[in-house]
Amino acid sequence: MLLEVDAVGRSFGGVQAVQSASFGVAPGEVHGLIGPNGAGKTTLLNLISGLVRPTQGTIQLRGRRLDGLPPHRVAALGVTRTFQNIRLFPELSALENVIVGAHRTRRAPLWPRLLFAPTAAREERAVRARAAALLERVGLAERAGERSANLSYGEQRRVEIARALAADPAVLLLDEPTAGMSRGEVEAIARLIRDVAREGRAVLLVEHNLELVMGVCDRITVLDFGKVLADGTPAEVRADPAVIAAYLGSDA
Ligand SMILES: Nc1ncnc2c1ncn2[C@@H]1O[C@H](COP(=O)(O)OP(=O)(O)OP(=O)(O)O)[C@@H](O)[C@H]1O
Ligand SMILES: [Mg+2]
Repeated sequence: MLLEVDAVGRSFGGVQAVQSASFGVAPGEVHGLIGPNGAGKTTLLNLISGLVRPTQGTIQLRGRRLDGLPPHRVAALGVTRTFQNIRLFPELSALENVIVGAHRTRRAPLWPRLLFAPTAAREERAVRARAAALLERVGLAERAGERSANLSYGEQRRVEIARALAADPAVLLLDEPTAGMSRGEVEAIARLIRDVAREGRAVLLVEHNLELVMGVCDRITVLDFGKVLADGTPAEVRADPAVIAAYLGSDA
């Protein structure tokens, strides 16, 4: 396994948001993380990305402990994400937001950049070109210069995906990437997710759109009240009576 979540738990005061959750994600795998509202999906992504520390358990990337590391270290090791509540710099352009995500792949240290050394300038151009290519990949080439605040929700979510990819991650965490998107946009995101996995990256996908989840995921982990309720292929999960009961008992 590339990413290994082992018996991870996190409580907030009296609320056990995640309880002893275990699952693994392999390279090139699209892994769905589904469950009713409040099941602990976002909390799990926060635990993996270092935004929140687990109160129990371990999280490993290629056998290396991630739990306890701050978010920028987790990102530098190869785990990047998008947010359920979009977190772009609204005054920066789409392109500039993606460049921010490329930060960790820059080699040239600060001092030559300050001295305008040719290597740093070359790297700067390469970063810009790569960011532009990523915007094209998410279908936003012609919106590159637009302030992020002026973009639609669907476009902002796509900028976040491009920003997360700019760091060349081994694991991409997506928190409801298609919320607020049109049907056409959702289909484009589904193709993009499969493409990203084909490059050998692991994708951990939190989504309420079950048609999308069933269509793109290799495996799915179902959370309910912070616990893993089921884990398996889409067909296995869909046929699981406990999963059906959890979903019928919620508005999802
Ligand atoms: N920082 C926090 N402080 C207190 N409680 C929290 C915090 N973060 C999450 N929780 C609680 O943990 C539980 C799980 O929340 P979480 O946001 O992980 O659910 P979710 O599965 O992402 O739900 P949704 O589908 O609505 O996004 C909820 O009861 C929530 O109120
Ligand atoms: Mg959530």
